[in-house]
Amino acid sequence: MKLISCENYDDLSKKASDLIVEIIKNKKDAVLGLATGSTPIGVYQNLVRENEKGNIDFSNVRTVNLDEYIGIEKENTQSYHYFMNFNLFDRINIDKNNTHIPSADSKDINYCKEYDKLLDEIGMRDIQILGIGPNGHLAFNEPASSLNMRTSIIDLTEETINANSRFFETKDEVPKHAISMGISDIFNSKVLIVIASGKNKKRALRKFLDTDKIDPQFPVSFIRLHPNCYLFVDKEALES
Ligand code: F6R
Repeated sequence: MKLISCENYDDLSKKASDLIVEIIKNKKDAVLGLATGSTPIGVYQNLVRENEKGNIDFSNVRTVNLDEYIGIEKENTQSYHYFMNFNLFDRINIDKNNTHIPSADSKDINYCKEYDKLLDEIGMRDIQILGIGPNGHLAFNEPASSLNMRTSIIDLTEETINANSRFFETKDEVPKHAISMGISDIFNSKVLIVIASGKNKKRALRKFLDTDKIDPQFPVSFIRLHPNCYLFVDKEALES
């Protein structure tokens, strides 16, 4: 794992997006694994800018997203479908048929198998972007996840519900379940780009950096096992 220490959020977003731009420039039909949440917004803004300047072309790029809340409409401004369209897909020259996000409608286990089938068809991704949850979750793989997990319906923990309540008017509105890509598919990427910014990430980052131990109760620790993982952190997240 390569730890890349950044000055601040802008620097982190620039360094992480530079790596992605490089990969897309070298491979027109790159496959990107994408995350939502507040951390990747700066990276997506930079990708939009590079696309506007004509430096990168998304016309042959395919994307696959990590997760989605269950029980909210795609059109809801809190859905990850809405987030991706608003922050990236509506602003770049991507063919939306080449973008994939798990469905928010289904609690049906068969739908998880369908998403796994899609992931199998897509095969190894070139990049997987990941944020870190305050409890160390990766995508929505909460504590007590395992390395061989595939797409699952997850009961969100109280800590995740609390952390995500900042996006909703009241905590009651935060969905209690999500569908998430499993760790084994997250790992099926040539490069992992993990980004952590700001004081809210301090505790999780400290815990991660304090030990080399791989701990299923702290899923982010699994990233140490990936052969080509970049962890971008800013000073605010690092300072103790
Ligand atoms: C989002 C996702 C989550 C977030 C994590 C950090 O697709 O999979 O694991 O990456 O909750 O979220 P932010 O960036 O909002 O702190």
